[in-house]
Amino acid sequence: MTVNRIRYQNYRNIEDMTLEPSPGVNVVYGENAQGKTNIVEGIWLFSGLKSFRGAKDAELVRFGSPFSKLKMEFSTAAREQKAEITVETRRKAKLNGVELPSCAGLIGKCSAVVFSPSFLNIVKNGPDERRKFLDAAICQIKPAYAAALAEYHRLVRQRNSLLKDVQFETALLDMLDVIDERLAAAGNAIVEEREAYIALLTPEAKRIHDGFSGGKEEMSAVYIRKDAAEGKTLRDVLKENRKYDIINRTTSAGPHRDDLDIRINGISARSFGSQGQQRSCAVAMKLGEAAVMKEATGEQPVVLLDDVMSELDSGRQDYILNHIKGWQVFITCCEPSTVLRMCSGKFFHIAQGKLLENSEFGIRNSEL
Ligand SMILES: Nc1ncnc2c1ncn2[C@@H]1O[C@H](COP(=O)(O)OP(=O)(O)OP(=O)(O)O)[C@@H](O)[C@H]1O
Ligand SMILES: [Mg+2]
Repeated sequence: MTVNRIRYQNYRNIEDMTLEPSPGVNVVYGENAQGKTNIVEGIWLFSGLKSFRGAKDAELVRFGSPFSKLKMEFSTAAREQKAEITVETRRKAKLNGVELPSCAGLIGKCSAVVFSPSFLNIVKNGPDERRKFLDAAICQIKPAYAAALAEYHRLVRQRNSLLKDVQFETALLDMLDVIDERLAAAGNAIVEEREAYIALLTPEAKRIHDGFSGGKEEMSAVYIRKDAAEGKTLRDVLKENRKYDIINRTTSAGPHRDDLDIRINGISARSFGSQGQQRSCAVAMKLGEAAVMKEATGEQPVVLLDDVMSELDSGRQDYILNHIKGWQVFITCCEPSTVLRMCSGKFFHIAQGKLLENSEFGIRNSEL
């Protein structure tokens, strides 16, 4: 998918702005607090998913305005399309003139992936962030996975509440047997999907990471099963851990405890990676996600990279600016010199929610 034109009206700090992006690289630059993230956030909303900043709908409306409107013209392999989002107290969307029941109706119609600084948590934080990333990425390409995941979590909650009651009522042990069987089956299905996804993602992320590091570092990602010790199945482990689980009143193994170990040259990026290495891994995972989405859906998602450049050396920045071929990319940054290093594409200079200047291939069409 390619964004051909987007208009922001009373959106965040933008009163009225229209951008006509390049189908390749687009750099949005300006000082802090001028509206750069607002611009990529506006594009992201067309994916139909929640704001990556966790904003409530009403926060998107420009202070003092009754509502805000975003209009986007975009092309997909199938055709030219138009979408519109209006935010009053909550978001509403139209696609090609037809009102959708909710913004979620846009999911799968305008595909995008976003890297925002909080995505670094995928490398820096605990396993929870990595599981969330995997689950969200799989849901995007396989909607049935969301239901399987919800069922698995329901069973975990049910087992945990049984674990609490069983010490007072031993008759419940039979019920625990039943739940364990179901939980093991549901858990195995989740693990299978995650492992299949990682098998698609890892080579893509690795290829991109090779580009970042000029082939000097090797990135890998390995799914770590909590129940895999000595080749045991989840069913065995649930049985084995039962006493321990009853004491702790919680289920100690299963995909809700698994992890994804991201490594550079075989060692954990979380524990040993430098800032730049951690950022490179996170960006490679995100771009890898975009590549897998393209393979799975046939449609190339728009790639939104908010504040991706800081902490990266010039070689890695150059890779992002000039070597991601055939994708539409939006990059925000503060540093104007970044723009000078672009080989092709467009840049947009933003100040106080206004477009000061935009230009393509270094030929300035100043609007000052
Ligand atoms: N609903 C709103 N109405 C008016 N202004 C808003 C609204 N929401 C956010 N803003 C303002 O938008 C401004 C710019 O936000 P944005 O996050 O896009 O900046 P940025 O250019 O990405 O900055 P940085 O380089 O620091 O990331 C902020 O100063 C904020 O106060
Ligand atoms: Mg920003």
